[in-house]
Amino acid sequence: MRRTTEERIAQTETGLAETTLGMQEVPKSRQTGKMFTNKVILITGASSGIGADTAEEFSKLGANIIITGRNKDNLDKVATKCEEASPNKLKPLLIIADMNNENDVENIIKTSVNHFNKLDVLVNNAGVLESGSIETTSLEQYDRVMGTNVRSPYHLTMLATPHLVKSKGNIVNVSSVTGMRSFPNVLAYCMSKAALDQFTRCVALELAPKGVRVNAVNPGVIVTGLHKKDGSMNDEQYEAFLKKCADTHALGRPGETKEVSAVIVFLAGEGASNITGATIPVDGGRHAMCPR
Ligand SMILES: NC(=O)c1ccc[n+]([C@@H]2O[C@H](COP(=O)([O-])OP(=O)(O)OC[C@H]3O[C@@H](n4cnc5c(N)ncnc54)[C@H](OP(=O)(O)O)[C@@H]3O)[C@@H](O)[C@H]2O)c1
Repeated sequence: MRRTTEERIAQTETGLAETTLGMQEVPKSRQTGKMFTNKVILITGASSGIGADTAEEFSKLGANIIITGRNKDNLDKVATKCEEASPNKLKPLLIIADMNNENDVENIIKTSVNHFNKLDVLVNNAGVLESGSIETTSLEQYDRVMGTNVRSPYHLTMLATPHLVKSKGNIVNVSSVTGMRSFPNVLAYCMSKAALDQFTRCVALELAPKGVRVNAVNPGVIVTGLHKKDGSMNDEQYEAFLKKCADTHALGRPGETKEVSAVIVFLAGEGASNITGATIPVDGGRHAMCPR
């Protein structure tokens, strides 16, 4: 249900923040000056890793957040942490959704907008990695990776765009250094992230005249469960992979989720008001390296 302008003004005058119905409204007297107070932020793949950490960071800064994923237990745990971190103890809206199911993706936007009546920031973070080369990657693997990492953010962004145009909001895509540089044996994943980078730049140009910014972060190796999920590494191999980051990343180590979420939050905020179409490496300098 929408309020008239008069109702909004009346509510503001009674001391409540200018906001929309459905949000857990924060009275002016309890606003902490946090930069995302009364903003509505949707984060996909928030049930673990970078997305979970990003949800917590936005919560600390006063945002109303929507978190999505398939794993309800994990989402419940993330929601509890977000509520604890939120200055006004705002509860996140949880939406269980498989990004490869078109009805689920439609439901994310429908449920979010019904609940909050607006959307300010979309973080397209959900993604999968499957290892394999041109000799070993099946079409099923290719479809899974491109479906999750390219088609589903395309679909969600399409549906979110009218709401972001209305709020003059912005989008942050979670890409990878593999979109910028070429690596053997992660073919479909590299292709998917290169597509996401080009998506970022093209949509940035399309929506700039409407006041919507679109950017991406491009992490190097970040310590999450991602690399083990396709079964291509056991614990020992994963440890060796992380050790090798001393050579493969200029700063000599893998990154942490909070080093990525900090940049996502920056790109989504006022401090980045003149940045659009950017793909920002958060990779300890890996994108700048050449073997020698
Ligand atoms: N970790 C790295 O080294 C690294 C480096 C560069 C880029 N990235 C990118 O960072 C993003 C987050 O990855 P992460 O490292 O944080 O890994 P992660 O912990 O495995 O997180 C992946 C997230 O995506 C969700 N997801 C995957 N497939 C989904 C599907 N079909 N439907 C709905 N949700 C789905 C997962 O949720 P459910 O399991 O609940 O479905 C999970 O919340 C990805 O886009 C990844 O490509 C990671």
